[in-house]
Amino acid sequence: MTIDVQARRTGHTREVVITAETKPCCDTDCCGGTTEETTTTPEEAGAVKALVRAKYGALAASGEAGCGCGSACCGDEVSMVGEAYDDVEGYVAEADLRLGCGLPTKLAAIRPGDTVLDLGSGAGLDAFIARTLVGAGGEVLGVDMTPEMVARARQNAAKLGYENVRFVEGDIEALPLEDGRVDVVISNCVLNLVPDKRRAFAEMFRVLRPGGHFTVSDIVVRGGLPGAVRRSAELYAGCVAGAVEETTYLDWLREAGFEEVRVLEEKVIPVPDEVILEYVDADELAAYRRRGGAIVSVTVYGRKP
Ligand SMILES: C[S@@+](CC[C@H](N)C(=O)[O-])C[C@H]1O[C@@H](n2cnc3c(N)ncnc32)[C@H](O)[C@@H]1O
Repeated sequence: MTIDVQARRTGHTREVVITAETKPCCDTDCCGGTTEETTTTPEEAGAVKALVRAKYGALAASGEAGCGCGSACCGDEVSMVGEAYDDVEGYVAEADLRLGCGLPTKLAAIRPGDTVLDLGSGAGLDAFIARTLVGAGGEVLGVDMTPEMVARARQNAAKLGYENVRFVEGDIEALPLEDGRVDVVISNCVLNLVPDKRRAFAEMFRVLRPGGHFTVSDIVVRGGLPGAVRRSAELYAGCVAGAVEETTYLDWLREAGFEEVRVLEEKVIPVPDEVILEYVDADELAAYRRRGGAIVSVTVYGRKP
């Protein structure tokens, strides 16, 4: 399959234009993921992953801060992070493609000597911050399914001279790691892109040791996001297409076996009425606002018993 990816801005929204020989990106699953309302077939999940690889592969190859989940492609209008890692020890500018939506590593209670796994490690930003926390006696593993991202992260690691930070190509739905291998799982704005989130949560549970814990930042929605609003938000802010309801997300984590599941931090991502009104009428918008509809960046903690 040949895939071409281009990002462009038009007015309030930006488009990621993907040309593929197969079905083009055209609906809510553009950016990946399964919503509660839809069931993804293996073929659709495969197509979503191919599109995600193409999009993030292009970003990694360009090395420019991107149109992923972060604010960079949307100017100052949208900020998913709110604060940045810039002042945190271990921050590496070359690894920061502005694709995160929280500061999970800062909140992950990582201790010296821990083995940390970063899911969807991108160019390595969270992994390098984790390396500062685990020290020379610990270990950091990054897993990402986009070869160009893994290559970029490895280049960054080589420049830094870290021997205990490794980046591996692999899929979060089938982690290339043995059971109970890690103490802490982190992830930054990735799980919304994964078609089978329950499978991903089960894999997190499997690779953690008993007593191990995770801290992940991600995008969730509240108030039953109508399809048209979801599409407008995706064009405006990104990483919303595959986001599920917050309550569903937390339930799925508990169903995977985690306890003490809780939101450590949250930030509502403002999508202005005028943007949504390009897609829905005023009544639908008012109903959505009355239901407390929102798109939220959350940082979630949970522990394996
Ligand atoms: C929005 S970027 C975030 C990258 C990084 N965490 C950061 O904050 O800079 C999402 C990353 O997740 C990776 N990814 C998405 N779905 C994945 C999956 N199923 N398995 C492994 N990696 C995945 C993409 O390749 C991409 O590098």
